[in-house]
Amino acid sequence: MSDQTIIITGGAGFIGSHVVRRFVTAYPDYTIINLDKLTYAGNLANLKDIEDAPNYKFVKGDICDTAFIESLFETYKPDAVIHLAAESHVDRSITNPLDFVMTNVVGTVTLLNVAKNAWKGAYDKHRFYHVSTDEVYGSLGAEGMFEETTAYDPHSPYSASKASSDHFVRAYYDTYGMDCVISNCSNNYGSHHFPEKLIPLSINNIKQNKPIPIYGKGENVRDWLFVEDHARAIDIIFHKAASGTTYNIGGHNEWTNIDLIHLLCAIMDQKLGREAGASAKLITYVTDRAGHDLRYAIDATKLQEELGWAPSLQFEEGLERTVDWYLANEDWLQNVTSGAYQQYYEHQYKR
Ligand code: NAD
Ligand code: TYD
Repeated sequence: MSDQTIIITGGAGFIGSHVVRRFVTAYPDYTIINLDKLTYAGNLANLKDIEDAPNYKFVKGDICDTAFIESLFETYKPDAVIHLAAESHVDRSITNPLDFVMTNVVGTVTLLNVAKNAWKGAYDKHRFYHVSTDEVYGSLGAEGMFEETTAYDPHSPYSASKASSDHFVRAYYDTYGMDCVISNCSNNYGSHHFPEKLIPLSINNIKQNKPIPIYGKGENVRDWLFVEDHARAIDIIFHKAASGTTYNIGGHNEWTNIDLIHLLCAIMDQKLGREAGASAKLITYVTDRAGHDLRYAIDATKLQEELGWAPSLQFEEGLERTVDWYLANEDWLQNVTSGAYQQYYEHQYKR
């Protein structure tokens, strides 16, 4: 479709802002509605460069609010939804699991339900794309990778809530015949990442000469993907995937947390003109996260073979670009780390 209207939820967040930017700039004939509640993680400064684009509109609202979502569908008559809005941080889910049930489960089902009613009789002309995580598959040992057929085995309240939302999306495909697509992606990194997650938190702390908190022994493994590669994968899947399909997205880029942090420290030493090894002295081992998944690794063969997607960047290059962005955008970092962030940090790392 050349002139469709798409509601992108969570477009003021980390990944959502990259997806919104990509769609607004790559598809001038589309109308992109960014629906976001602007929680602590949502930030309109993430979209400053495209906020005046004629095919872009921001609407503040809650995906759990049925009447509001209905009126949004009534006003904009969207052809599709790309759903990223979520509570996304595992540590916060351990402290406040119900927030995750509300947003990730109830919010997703609210959207699905409004879409089901609005698109009735024309499901073949409308798509509901649900953006999910590899964490639904649980934790790997030293061997193996998550495939699309891997059984769900979530451990954290975050991953349990995302698993539940995935199940509901499949239920709406199976039960009502809605056109639904899901992708499950590995850990993202890049610009505009809220500094509660490992990489931006560490960049911020290194910059300020504060301890870098490493949970447990730092041996947990994550598979890191540059966020713009994720946005490109979402673009391809949105346009090309068959209804009812699932795709894994990942970087083939596994790092233990401690190796990653050593690489980051070396880049930061160089960028900040510190002597080699100076930033690594900030590494501080702290109490492990409860239920900490040991290893995630994505097998993205299906996406590569069927739809021709592959990651574009080596990790070293992507990480350096990320550091450059944070160093060039001190205002952004200062803005998001003032106020409530300080309270969160105190609570999370004082134990
Ligand atoms: P984020 O926390 O940076 O952003 C989430 C956005 O959703 C924020 O803008 C927030 O304001 C908005 N939001 C939260 N609750 C809302 C509500 N009730 N109504 C409307 N908007 C609401 O998250 P992210 O890291 O960009 O993740 C986006 C999506 O991608 C999530 O669904 C997440 O599960 C998934 N995902 C994330 C990663 C990752 O590494 N960050 C990896 C794979 C999948
Ligand atoms: P995070 O960025 O929170 O992503 P996720 O838990 O969704 O994978 O954490 C990435 C890894 O880094 C994870 O193994 C937990 C670890 N970690 C730390 O060691 N210290 C920290 O302060 C944080 C936030 C994470």
